[in-house]
Amino acid sequence: MTAEHPSLTIVDHPLVQHKLTLMREKDGSTARFRRLLREISLLLGYEVLRDLPLTSRRIETPLEAMDSPEIEGKKLALVSILRAGNGMLEPLLELAPSARVGFLGLYRDHETLQPVEYYCKLPSELAARPVILVDPMLATANSAVAAVDKVKESGAQDVRMMTLLCAPEGVRRMAEAHPDVRVFTAALDRELNDKGYILPGLGDAGDRMFGTK
Ligand code: PRP
Ligand code: URA
Repeated sequence: MTAEHPSLTIVDHPLVQHKLTLMREKDGSTARFRRLLREISLLLGYEVLRDLPLTSRRIETPLEAMDSPEIEGKKLALVSILRAGNGMLEPLLELAPSARVGFLGLYRDHETLQPVEYYCKLPSELAARPVILVDPMLATANSAVAAVDKVKESGAQDVRMMTLLCAPEGVRRMAEAHPDVRVFTAALDRELNDKGYILPGLGDAGDRMFGTK
């Protein structure tokens, strides 16, 4: 967390930072970009899920009985903001295989930079689950704020956001709109350009993941 952005956690582990450098390079292949996003997401996921509440359960080891910790409450809800969020969803599902999964289809209108919704399917009982929104890019945060609005309308109370890169403009906007939402990221970049792209950034995450233009 930083004094300027109290709801932002930058995961500055050397492995994360090294892999992010490889992702930023413009000439990497689609396969490499996808593989690195998966690897970084596993490391970010570890931090995002660090404070899940635990309870204990009586179990029998082969030698004796013990009270052993397990995650309390209802299963997590992971909500992927399409398309690029799917590159972070699969690795999070490796960490939390019983999680419920939602999809929110949003794309940015290139002129207005406002999100356009084209799909929404969310898990039930969001009020009782920690909700993790995943999307690699938080630029203006228009998409992320719309996504948080949507899950809160469906009852979500504990909402966290996992991203790869953030712009300061987007972090500020999210903190104003939803100060209770913690954002986890690999890096806070310098600024947005006049087309709403993160600088220095890594370009269009969806296009780089899926090999589109
Ligand atoms: C990208 C990204 C975020 C959004 C971030 O998606 O994956 O969803 O832009 O920008 P914002 O913070 O200014 O809203 P895009 O709209 O390009 O859709 P895609 O994932 O289908 O490529
Ligand atoms: N979306 C992206 O994929 N990249 C950016 O830099 C900004 C929004």
